[in-house]
Amino acid sequence: MQKILIVDDVEVNRELLRGILKEDYEIEMAENGRQAIRKLWEYHDEISAVLLDLQMPDIDGFKVIAEMKEQGFMDRIALLIISSEHAVEVEIQCFQLGASDFIHKPFEASIVKNRVRNTIELFRCKNQLEQKVEEQAAALERQSQIIRIQAERLSREKPFHNLMMEYRAVIMEIETRLKVLNAVFSEEYNRNPFESIKSRLKTPESIYKKLERKGHPALIENISAYIADVAGLRVICSFPDDIYRLAELLIKQDDIILLKRKDYIQKPKRNGYRSLHLILNVPIFLPDEKKYRKAEVQFRTIAMDFWASLEHKLKYKKDYDDTDDIERQLKDCADSIEALDYQMQEIRDKIYGSNG
Ligand code: GTP
Ligand code: MG
Repeated sequence: MQKILIVDDVEVNRELLRGILKEDYEIEMAENGRQAIRKLWEYHDEISAVLLDLQMPDIDGFKVIAEMKEQGFMDRIALLIISSEHAVEVEIQCFQLGASDFIHKPFEASIVKNRVRNTIELFRCKNQLEQKVEEQAAALERQSQIIRIQAERLSREKPFHNLMMEYRAVIMEIETRLKVLNAVFSEEYNRNPFESIKSRLKTPESIYKKLERKGHPALIENISAYIADVAGLRVICSFPDDIYRLAELLIKQDDIILLKRKDYIQKPKRNGYRSLHLILNVPIFLPDEKKYRKAEVQFRTIAMDFWASLEHKLKYKKDYDDTDDIERQLKDCADSIEALDYQMQEIRDKIYGSNG
């Protein structure tokens, strides 16, 4: 049986309420605020609801509410106000303080019964839901810990090491080809089509998280089958047309296979993200075989890269409320940056002509 605490300084009221509820609940009673607080201290683990009178001498209902809040009881115990107070402001205030219901005196037995039952049921559901969310969060945390451990274990195995070595070779291969193109350009036009190349190998943890997310078991063979960006390169160009020129020259090389081309410059993402992505299959030459491995190459201008790095940082800073506002501002910045990129390109064309 659930326990209810009835708090009222008038004995008749207490007895009336007890009479209405005693069949369905175990009843505790308090004849003033002080007693109520004491009983809450004693029984807060067992009490499902408090029926609280507002006007009581010395420690009134509001002070009891304040104490309940202070002790964190309100999260778990349903609070119903039973009062002869008819001012709407008082009722509003009680709801603002966290009361679940407000019953006016004089009360009707069946109404009290129903409202107490509904409120307790609602609270039970809420608590269950909260507990489920907590359990789920704990399960997720356990899961990501398992992934971390799995990733760590597999990353120590020889086949994994070999595979990562191959991806490192892919990165070197692409870097070299891009550097050669850059050198030729600088010879011919006295200008470099890209400013810098950044590369990274996906971490074991991030590899296994991605496999998990895509619903594939954490097996070595699934890495090359389902993840295209273990080897990642970012080529930072000065001007938008360098991006296309360089990308085309790379794809044109007869042993490089273009698997996918995502042009977020022609079709930016909704948030304003712009870059040209190529998923390539690239040959690497090992002591006794030639193998193809995938790589993701992102081409961006300096301005696009500046935007994407900042946006990435901001996206992971979660403790800011007005994300809509931030997203709008970021989108505005992306638009300004686009305009800037083409404006700079026009200036270059005026100075050197469009080939230069
Ligand atoms: P992933 O599962 O993250 O690889 O996404 P995807 O397979 O759908 O590919 P997509 O082309 O959308 O993104 C690949 C990579 O581009 C990401 O890992 C990021 O490095 C970069 N990227 C894509 N969208 C955004 C974005 O909105 N902001 C930033 N900062 N980077 C992005
Ligand atoms: Mg990716």
